[in-house]
Amino acid sequence: MTVLEAIQKSAEFLGKRGVESPRLQTELLLAHLLKMPRMKLYLNFDRVLTVPETDALRDLIKRRGLREPLQHITGSTSFCGYEMTVNRHVLVPRPETELLAEAGWQFLATRPPESVTALDLCTGSGCIAIALAAKCPPAKVVATDISAEALTLARQNANGNGVAERIEFLAGDGFAALATAATRAFDLIASNPPYIPSAEIADLDPEVRDFDPWLALDGGDDGLVFYRRLAAGAAEFLKPAGKIMVEFGDGQADALKNIFESEKWIVEAVREDYSHRARILVARR
Ligand SMILES: C[S@@+](CC[C@H](N)C(=O)[O-])C[C@H]1O[C@@H](n2cnc3c(N)ncnc32)[C@H](O)[C@@H]1O
Repeated sequence: MTVLEAIQKSAEFLGKRGVESPRLQTELLLAHLLKMPRMKLYLNFDRVLTVPETDALRDLIKRRGLREPLQHITGSTSFCGYEMTVNRHVLVPRPETELLAEAGWQFLATRPPESVTALDLCTGSGCIAIALAAKCPPAKVVATDISAEALTLARQNANGNGVAERIEFLAGDGFAALATAATRAFDLIASNPPYIPSAEIADLDPEVRDFDPWLALDGGDDGLVFYRRLAAGAAEFLKPAGKIMVEFGDGQADALKNIFESEKWIVEAVREDYSHRARILVARR
């Protein structure tokens, strides 16, 4: 079977299994398998796959057909240009979260470099903390999560991206993780907490419902439990003129504004994602 035939056959199979963008997904898996950039496949359409390559591709396509996310199969994803290993203990970092990280490092760049600090609450794979530390070299960053397994992977990702010595990883429930923190006052508090209403998790795509950790999704009855805790608890850990930036779910903007304003925050901006849906709230005291 040639590369082109393998792509066509596999894409048809994935399409029938309800996988979105089946041709792209097939090409990404084949490129991963053949260890070549996806575009190079196009120069190799007539190449005949070896039997071991065909068998290996069949296994990868079968897994994707069972709706295992591409990033779990390849074991990694890119976030703001940084390689993040992912596994079943962490949410696969999403493109919209890159906007939160970018807003964060742009703000950090305006703060006094000799003392600049950031907190990433609910760090998961560590993606936000790592991007902040990498883009803002003077920053001291604290990253917390309730999941010890997630923190193990986040540390590994920080090592892989050369920023581990500037990130303090702490386990704990919300702000309680900061009890032993070396840094307890931050210029920026960033968070992408769990925000799916519990009853809606069952209706999510299988890639999310069956493979992202429940802990990373479940935002309580109305999806907003964590934001109430953030709005009530964050001020104690924010420096004067510091900012909080949080990602939230589609349709939650008004509720988020109310939650933060009722805890005396001044909402500075609500930013949109690539699909023009409000997804990031920026607030200060
Ligand atoms: C939506 S994921 C975000 C992960 C990562 N920051 C990202 O943007 O890809 C939420 C994370 O919050 C963590 N989490 C859930 N409940 C928590 C709690 N009570 N305290 C701290 N972390 C919590 C989960 O383990 C998960 O890693």
